[in-house]
Amino acid sequence: MKYKIKSICCIGAGYVGGPTMAVIADKCPNVVVEVVDVNKERIDDWNNENFDKLPVYEPGLSEIIKRCRNRNLFFSTLIEDKIRNADMVFISVNTPTKTKGVGAGKASDLKWVEACARQVAKFAKGHTIVVEKSTLPVRTAEVIKSILESSEKNSLTESNDSSFDVLSNPEFLSEGTAINDLVNPDRILIGGEKEDAIEALCDVYRNWVSEEKILKTNVWSSELAKLTANAFLAQRISSINSISALCEETGADVREVSRAIGSDSRIGSKFLQSGPGFGGSCFKKDILNLVYLSEFFGLPEVATFWEGVVKLNNWHQKRISKLVVKKLFGTVANKKITILGFAFKANTNDTRESSAIPICKDLIEEGAILKIHDPKVDPNQISRDLGKEQKKEKDLAKEGDWIFEKNIKSACLDSDALIILTEWSDYSQIDWIEIENVMRKPSWIFDSRSVIDPKDFVKSNLNVWRVGDGSIL
Ligand code: UDX
Ligand code: ADP
Repeated sequence: MKYKIKSICCIGAGYVGGPTMAVIADKCPNVVVEVVDVNKERIDDWNNENFDKLPVYEPGLSEIIKRCRNRNLFFSTLIEDKIRNADMVFISVNTPTKTKGVGAGKASDLKWVEACARQVAKFAKGHTIVVEKSTLPVRTAEVIKSILESSEKNSLTESNDSSFDVLSNPEFLSEGTAINDLVNPDRILIGGEKEDAIEALCDVYRNWVSEEKILKTNVWSSELAKLTANAFLAQRISSINSISALCEETGADVREVSRAIGSDSRIGSKFLQSGPGFGGSCFKKDILNLVYLSEFFGLPEVATFWEGVVKLNNWHQKRISKLVVKKLFGTVANKKITILGFAFKANTNDTRESSAIPICKDLIEEGAILKIHDPKVDPNQISRDLGKEQKKEKDLAKEGDWIFEKNIKSACLDSDALIILTEWSDYSQIDWIEIENVMRKPSWIFDSRSVIDPKDFVKSNLNVWRVGDGSIL
C-alpha cells in the first residue's frame, strides 16, 4: 500500500527537532508540520515574535521560521491532538546518558523515548509511521515497536483501527551549520523493514534530496551507523589532540602536521583541528553507548578501544586547565582570567558537554575569578553549567567567582590571562594592542582554537600559548 504523507508531528522541539522540521516544512509546502514539546517555555520561544529570541541559535534558521511559521509549520504543546492527526510521527526527544541503575554512566536513558512511544500508541489513529530521529542506542526501534505492537494487540489505543511502522532515520546535522547540513545532506539514512513505509519517508526527502543520496538499510545498520559515524569523528579529534600535546613538547606545530596528513586523500582534511577537546550532546554519549553495547555483547577489547577516545578527551581538557595554572606561576587564586567563548563550538548557543565547563570549573576550584564572554550563550545557562551563580562586579573580590561580560575589552580589564575556548569569528578580529593595555602584567593569552595569528604578537609583551604549537615565539 502506498502512503502519502500530508501531516507530520515531531515530538521534541530541541536542537534536532526544531531545525529539522523547519527545513522539512520549507521544502514540503504541501505537508503540515506540527512540532510539539512538553516544555511550554520552549514552545513559547519558538512562537516568539522576536526572531532573535528563538530557543535555538543557528545561522539561517530564523529566516526559515519567518517564512514557514503559521503557514505549514506550527509549534505547540498539544501533543495528543497532533499525534491523532499525524500520518508520520518523528521522535526527537533527548536521550541523555543514564545516571543510575543498569548501564549508569554509559547507556542512554530511554525513558523519554519510551514515554513518547506510549503516547503515540495511545493517541494515534489509522496507520502511523513512527520515525526515530533522536540519537539512540542500537535496538531502540525494537523497543518502540514492541510498545506499539502490544497496544495494538491489547486495544490500549483510543481508536481501534490503529497500526504502525517504525523507521530509523538518524540525523547527521552538525550544530552551527545545521541548516546547510539539512538542505544539502551528504546522505539520508533510512532503516526499516517495510518497503511502503520506507518509500513514504523517501518521498518526503525527495522534495529536495537526490535519489542517490538516500541510503536504505535494515534498522540495526541504520542505528549502528549513526553511533559509528560519531565515534569515528570523535576519534579523529582525540587523535589530533593527542598529537598536539606531543607537538608542544617536540617543537612541531599541530596545524602543519594536520595539513600534511590531511592532504593524504586516504585520511582527508576534515576534523583534524586540534582544540580544547570535543563537546556537544552527541560524541561522548554515542561513544559511551558503543562501549556499553560492546561490553554487553562480551567484546571487552572493543569497549576499551572506544573508551580510550573519551578518556583522552577528558585528559586533554584537564591538560589545558593545568597548563594555565602552571604558566601563571603555579597559582590562579584571586587572579582574574578572561574566558572567551563558552559554547561547545562557534555559531551555536548550545553548551552541552562544552569543554569550557570542566576547564572553567577547574579554574574556579583553583580560586580564579573568571570573566566570561560569549556572543550567544545565555548567562543563566552558564550558571546552570557551572553550578554557581555569577557575582555582581562590586562583589567580585572573592576567590572562585565568575561574572558574565558583554564586551570583550571590559572582559579583559585587569586580567592576568585570557583563554579562547570557542572559535567565534569575533575573536580573530581582536585588536591585541588594545587588550594588552588593559590587562595586568605579565599577561598571558591561551588560544585553544588556533584563532590568533602569532605574527600579531611578535612586537607585543603578551605571552602566548597556542594549542599544539611547540614553535611559538
Ligand atoms: C556532531 C556530528 O558532527 C553530527 O553529524 C551529529 O549529528 C551530531 O554530533 P555536533 O556535535 O553538532 O555534531 O558538532 P561537530 O561539528 O561534530 O563538533 C563536535 C565537537 O568537536 C565540537 O566541540 C567541536 O569544536 C569539536 N571539533 C570538531 C574539534 O575540536 N576539531 C575538529 O576538527 C572538529
Ligand atoms: P536534541 O539535541 O536531541 O534535539 P534537546 O534537549 O535540545 O535535544 O531537545 C529535546 C526536547 O524534547 C526537549 O525540548 C524536551 O522538552 C522534549 N521532550 C522530552 N520528552 C518529551 C515528551 N515525552 N514529550 C514531548 N517532548 C519531550
